[in-house]
Amino acid sequence: MNEAQWWRDAVVYQVYPRSFADADGDGIGDLRGVVDRVPYLADLGVDAVWLSPFYPSALADGGYDIDDHRAVDPRLGTLDDVDALVASLAEHGMRLVVDIVPNHTSDRHVWFREALASPPGSPARARYHFRDGRGASGELPPADWRSGFGGLMWTRTPDGQWYLHIHAAEQPDLNWANEEVRQDFLTTLAFWADRGVAGFRIDVAHLLAKDLPEDLPAEVELAAAAPGRHPFIDRDEVHDVYAEWRALFDRYSPPRTAVAEAWVPAERRGRYACATGLGQAFNFDLLTSNWDAEEFAAVIRRNLELAEQSGSSSTWVLSNHDVVRHTSRYGLPQGTPDDPQLGRQWLLARGRTPRLDAALGERRARAATLLLLALPGSTYLYQGEELGLHEVPDLPDEDRQDPTFLRSDGADAGRDGCRVPLPWTRSSASFGFGAGGAHLPQPAWFGEHSVGAQRADPSSTLHLYRRALRLRRELRVDHEPASVRWHPAPPGVLHLARGGGWHCLTTFSAPAPAPRGTVVLASAPLADDGRVPPGVTVWFRQG
Ligand code: GLC
Repeated sequence: MNEAQWWRDAVVYQVYPRSFADADGDGIGDLRGVVDRVPYLADLGVDAVWLSPFYPSALADGGYDIDDHRAVDPRLGTLDDVDALVASLAEHGMRLVVDIVPNHTSDRHVWFREALASPPGSPARARYHFRDGRGASGELPPADWRSGFGGLMWTRTPDGQWYLHIHAAEQPDLNWANEEVRQDFLTTLAFWADRGVAGFRIDVAHLLAKDLPEDLPAEVELAAAAPGRHPFIDRDEVHDVYAEWRALFDRYSPPRTAVAEAWVPAERRGRYACATGLGQAFNFDLLTSNWDAEEFAAVIRRNLELAEQSGSSSTWVLSNHDVVRHTSRYGLPQGTPDDPQLGRQWLLARGRTPRLDAALGERRARAATLLLLALPGSTYLYQGEELGLHEVPDLPDEDRQDPTFLRSDGADAGRDGCRVPLPWTRSSASFGFGAGGAHLPQPAWFGEHSVGAQRADPSSTLHLYRRALRLRRELRVDHEPASVRWHPAPPGVLHLARGGGWHCLTTFSAPAPAPRGTVVLASAPLADDGRVPPGVTVWFRQG
């Protein structure tokens, strides 16, 4: 494929650096740890690494509260380490994608400190959203908006004004109508692109543009806003920002890529994903889907159509650092999703009462992965899913770090359970994560999921991922969304072909007859007579 289009069917592996590998033994993963594991990633067979934030941060939100967008957290390394990572990945045929967090800074950012030290109405405050409060002496917040992280979206400063933060109070929202803010992010993007970064993952890309009228609507009125008309969600003018970014990306060779994290209705995703915008947008639809053939088929069909309409390629995602690991989601009792983002499974796991069938979850997760890897488009893998890792649901409260836990007084168990440091070895201290312990406690069962344990077992999930990624490269036929051919299949089963005689069959809730062709990979053993039991994906070739 043409070099400029590498991202269209890339397999991108997300590294959450503080929990990946700790080279200096301080209990926190670091960039050297990632560099040391580049051969592991090459052997796994991914095309690119997306690195979650590694910038200086007080970790009020796991690094998504950034003090300086053009520096490295000294606990994680140096700019030289970033260069070393780019170089080492390139040597192994891989690329680096970094996280850009443009919606907010941390409250320790030089701009925010300057804003607090400056009077109301000053240029320094104009980079953020400061407002006077309501009530006789401004003691009431400008609006009753509540943050998804718990608590209000407004915090009062010592001089009485309030500032907006959609997330935690340590994450003040930037004002994207401010020219200096816009210019500064162009500088940041060029800074990383000049260092050889191939692409960017854009954090909450749908929140930047804001239109906050004098009289702010109440929270109940927000829900009724028409698409594109909400004061801060998915406003149409956010795309002016991305058009500017696109012009910058296209000055590089190959052009830099970007993928939007935009929690917007599927039909609005193309605005972010089109060629004049960021180029790609995450499709999170499978995060809210049950293990159900019809739900999967609907999501796949819809997203292939959308990718075709926008001229982008679809992105397939089962897990990331914000959601319950899919191995656990698929082992929990099914039900109608009743949480807008993540479904009932999320609530169950986060409620720490998971009636988890661990083996069932692993079986389905393996099948889901093979199905995704058979689809046109790119796939984003989250560190540890290649080990079949489950969510860690029972972290002690005193160890939890996620602001969603802290700000909700524990009502939401938060996202730490998918951020526990990876197990590399079966038994050594912190399972080989580092010499100095792990910043979140690892459960005893991590040992049997470790890289070391799985390397020794040819039937392990790690080997399945390696084989699948190799075969995907070999069998790669056509990344065009329209290249999928659906075949008739019994209820509860999906069967599709990708051309070149390559077929993919997934049994969700019912068995399927033996595939007519040569099986090249199966996520679990088939019956002696070749029939496919439920919860399996088979890749086979005809002709
Ligand atoms: C995104 C990140 C999440 C973070 C939030 C605020 O959703 O994925 O981890 O908490 O943005 O930056």
